[in-house]
Amino acid sequence: MKFAFFDTKPYDRPAFDKYGAEKGIEFKYFETKLNEDTAELARDFDGVCVFVNDTVNAKVIDKLVDMNVKVVALRCAGFNNVDVKYAFGKVHVLRVPAYSPYAVAEHTMALLLTSVRRIHKAYIRTRDFNFSLSGMTGFDLHGKTVGVIGTGKIGKVFINICRGFGMKVLAYDKYPDRSIESEYVRYADLPELFENSDIISLHCPLTEETYHLINRESLEKCKKGVVILNTSRGALVDAEALLAGIKDRKVGAACLDVYEEEADYFFEDFSGHIISDDILARLISMPNVIVSSHQAFLTTEALENIAETTVNNIIGYFENGQCPNEVCFRCGNAEDCKTGKCF
Ligand code: NAI
Repeated sequence: MKFAFFDTKPYDRPAFDKYGAEKGIEFKYFETKLNEDTAELARDFDGVCVFVNDTVNAKVIDKLVDMNVKVVALRCAGFNNVDVKYAFGKVHVLRVPAYSPYAVAEHTMALLLTSVRRIHKAYIRTRDFNFSLSGMTGFDLHGKTVGVIGTGKIGKVFINICRGFGMKVLAYDKYPDRSIESEYVRYADLPELFENSDIISLHCPLTEETYHLINRESLEKCKKGVVILNTSRGALVDAEALLAGIKDRKVGAACLDVYEEEADYFFEDFSGHIISDDILARLISMPNVIVSSHQAFLTTEALENIAETTVNNIIGYFENGQCPNEVCFRCGNAEDCKTGKCF
């Protein structure tokens, strides 16, 4: 079996080479992202293996079908970059629903601690032998209230980490899991969460419903000085509204591992270039904003799990004709396919 692997980075290859060789899958690595212009590279391959910033829209799907490419194997959990409705009946879309919720949740806490204890400032100052503490006052996380939106795999791990710090948790989920409620963790509706949280962390998927969940109106409801954490998907946050909130001093800090227009920049080296995205440039210039470039997943453990599951997904589909991790429109609103045999 031959798979065209798009948006390849050097850290992808070792694990995919290892698991691919074990199961007889040959990956051909392309550095370019998959889009309408590059889809042709997938000719003569059985499938494509793509990541978060590859584009699998209707035009790309049509090209893949023309070339008899049968499978789109996502090596990530989110599938907002795939037109799953259009894909139905044309190509099978497989994903990796979980690879390390710890990787993402721990990175979220790393960003939060860095921000509230000014570690990013300290690192730069002491390298320059500047040992002044002016402007470095942080605040205790203990006793603060964190609003967690999305209490799935990552949200739950993040809640446990926050509990370890003695924080109170207000949770919101479209499908609450009441088993996590306790004296310190309780579900609330969104307005209550916005009004009472010192910190808000996003762990829900990007859907039509959650697009720009953090916007001017929701920020208006928040406490002054609220810290916004987004390690989920960029478009959950209206970046322009966030920037306005930071300028107005309404938002105390923002930690972003994802950004609405990240596909144009993230994963690539733009040092020495002029950044034309003024909102991203202005956000990065703020002393209370920390941006990492969609790196929350990037641990050795997660990379191994991603490769192993992707290879098993491909084998499952080609050898057994079904894959439990198929993203299937027909099985109910793009939830994972219940049967693996919908079309
Ligand atoms: P999950 O599927 O286990 O949990 C998502 C939760 O969001 C579920 O409990 C679901 O009920 C809830 N949800 C769905 N619609 C909602 C809505 N309208 N409002 C509130 N909650 C809603 O997913 P998991 O593994 O916890 O991942 C969460 C997100 O993290 C993914 O969607 C993905 O976008 C992002 N992610 C980011 C990574 C990174 O490197 N920065 C890596 C992996 C995932």
